[in-house]
Amino acid sequence: MANREIAIQVKNLVKVFDGRKVLDNINFDIYQGETFVIVGGSGCGKSTLLRVMAGGLDPTSGQVFFNGKDMGVLDREGKEKVKRRFGMSFQSAALLDFLTVEENVSLPLKEHTKLDDDIIRIIARMKLNFVGLKGFENYFPSQISGGMKKRVGLARAIAMDPEIVFYDEPTAGLDPVICAVVDQLILDLTKKLNLTSIVVTHNMESVFRIADRIAMLYNGKLLQVGTKEEIKNSDNAIIQQFIKGEIVGPIQLNAVGE
Ligand SMILES: Nc1ncnc2c1ncn2[C@@H]1O[C@H](COP(=O)(O)OP(=O)(O)OP(=O)(O)O)[C@@H](O)[C@H]1O
Ligand SMILES: [Mg+2]
Repeated sequence: MANREIAIQVKNLVKVFDGRKVLDNINFDIYQGETFVIVGGSGCGKSTLLRVMAGGLDPTSGQVFFNGKDMGVLDREGKEKVKRRFGMSFQSAALLDFLTVEENVSLPLKEHTKLDDDIIRIIARMKLNFVGLKGFENYFPSQISGGMKKRVGLARAIAMDPEIVFYDEPTAGLDPVICAVVDQLILDLTKKLNLTSIVVTHNMESVFRIADRIAMLYNGKLLQVGTKEEIKNSDNAIIQQFIKGEIVGPIQLNAVGE
């Protein structure tokens, strides 16, 4: 993977909330076309890291580079332009209840393009087809299951043909079979649409199914970045405790940012 182009580079990244260091000097590169998974316990800073990378939150210090360009130097308009090349699948599916499935997927296209309604409709239907929801276009979010909502969220995340898709807990709250289906979908999207996928999760089964490389966060610090094999064979006791889900070990609860 050494020769591959870097899609996102995170450099000396720090994020402080109310005097609390939630991300503490994070450094890593994400390669184009890979599925990069960020894991770590609840409250360790995963969603914050994702939001900073996706341009939704400014770092306190440090930089995020997208295709070699420092996002921190962009003005508002420049940043909005870059963000249009990103897709975001949120921790909660974040669908609008008063819009149909198709209208939810159409939303980014209506907001950011001047395409005709007919074209938007075709694109939205194509994306829904891609995530296996053909026939559910006119349903409202309250009429579909949690797993289907997640898939609508994925369809919306790819509506604008993004280069990078950020997924925050794409399989949270799903049964093991639907979880595997969503994981497979993420892999398919990444390969078939030639995307870079950045996934936050604490579901270790998912991690080992989808990751090309894994970054392990602990209390705002990056413990290790590596392939599945490297993480499995890590000599870091915290990583071993986390991937095995053991109760006894070095992991301290509620120690975030201390
Ligand atoms: N806007 C904010 N203002 C103040 N503190 C925040 C804000 N957003 C996040 N935090 C704090 O940052 C820390 C990390 O939160 P974050 O949501 O990134 O964790 P997480 O790893 O995604 O957790 P989970 O697995 O539960 O989703 C938490 O202590 C949280 O309280
Ligand atoms: Mg989170």
